[in-house]
Amino acid sequence: MQQVLSFVESNKERYLAQLKELLAIPSVSSQSTHNADTRGCAEWVATEMRAIGMNNVQIFETPGHPIVYSEWMGAPGKPTVLFYGHYDVQPVDPLNLWTSPPFEATIRGDNLYARGSADDKGQIFIHFKSIEAYMKNQGKLPVNIKMLIEGEEEVGSANLDNFVKEHKELLKGDLVLISDSSMFAKGIPSVCYGLRGLAYMEVEVTGPNTDLHSGSFGGSLHNPIQALSEMIASLHDKNGKITVKGFYNDVRPLSNVERAAFKKLPWNDKKYAKGLGLKQLYGEKGFTTLERLWARPTLECNGIWGGYTGEGAKTVLPAKAFAKISMRIVPDQDSTKIARLFENHMKKIAPKTVQVKVTALHGGEPAITPIKSPGVQAAVAALEKGFGKKPLYQREGGSIPIVVQFKKLLGLDTVLLGFGLPDENAHAPNEYINLDNFFGGIRTSVHFYNELPKYWKNK
Ligand code: BES
Ligand code: ZN
Repeated sequence: MQQVLSFVESNKERYLAQLKELLAIPSVSSQSTHNADTRGCAEWVATEMRAIGMNNVQIFETPGHPIVYSEWMGAPGKPTVLFYGHYDVQPVDPLNLWTSPPFEATIRGDNLYARGSADDKGQIFIHFKSIEAYMKNQGKLPVNIKMLIEGEEEVGSANLDNFVKEHKELLKGDLVLISDSSMFAKGIPSVCYGLRGLAYMEVEVTGPNTDLHSGSFGGSLHNPIQALSEMIASLHDKNGKITVKGFYNDVRPLSNVERAAFKKLPWNDKKYAKGLGLKQLYGEKGFTTLERLWARPTLECNGIWGGYTGEGAKTVLPAKAFAKISMRIVPDQDSTKIARLFENHMKKIAPKTVQVKVTALHGGEPAITPIKSPGVQAAVAALEKGFGKKPLYQREGGSIPIVVQFKKLLGLDTVLLGFGLPDENAHAPNEYINLDNFFGGIRTSVHFYNELPKYWKNK
């Protein structure tokens, strides 16, 4: 072990150089202009897996972006970890808000800035390096590992379910490990045990059959942008509650134990608001910020467009208006049901002056993973060793829909071992990974694989 950890200490410069290579590939899964880059990234991942000593490295084609698989099964009798992560990234726009180019990883202060540095390339790379450190120094790992790295997580993992269904035997293991979330705060490691789910919708509102001169026609009909805005504005009441009928029916109330545990966490609303440049926070009345972030459902407008948005003025009354609306959902809500409730609601509140079309783009279910599982307990021990501090338990507001599918299809619980930070700018300009978290992450990963068999034995 000591040798493995010293190896990590003495290879830091090389790690950063290699990570920069991975981060230079613009594997933006949502943009077809980047399809070749996304494939190139899958190949980079496969090459890296071979280099660190993984076996049976395969690139599986899907109707979308490829899935990369590999395994190291040389520890008979020891648990098998199914490691999941994603090599795709979010788009980079607005590009002009990046301080350094998104695909040229740049160190400023204690952080490495690049798209994908935290979400999720930097975090999968952490595990590549801990595996490599074992293989280079001991020629073996303390556990069996299967790695499943996909390229469509940021666009809803459309082809992953089928892949898992069709490769149940290949993916057989004892637990899932994912590093695609954040620590509670800088210097405060945490294990995450809950994720929200998602129902993502697009709304199209149509008024007249063509764009019209706003002078000649204005006053005679309902502008679709106005109609859509009125509908969206009515989706929250004055207490910040969502007005979609039946929306809260299946929400599992927070237990007193959990509420008390959240209250004990080191959290400060004022500091949080200040960090976001806000004078005041907003949200559902009757719940604390952490409760609203982690354990309450939300409805957000992600984008709204229509009419003229180019330079200067154009007097036009648009024929259509659009919005992308997502709902984060919590146990025991179901994304399909919520999508249906939303569609019905929008149709019901639509004024007679316009027509409304609602499309569900993608969804995923919320997840809670058992804290007492040996995997989580091994993660707690590993974080304490890797960061020199006992971790906290937390939930997250984000979504990793495959977590529930791993449970349903393979019967596996997931350990969420995140090394990002809440202000890491994921999905936004200037995404970064903190270097202490990056190197602490590699140490923690080394410890996790070493601790797991001990905790597994006492299961
Ligand atoms: N890494 C995130 C998930 C995440 C975010 C976990 C914040 C914990 C905290 C992941 O890459 C992501 O962004 N997922 C999408 C899922 C969606 C496209 C189905 C998300 O949450 O928006
Ligand atoms: Zn991610």
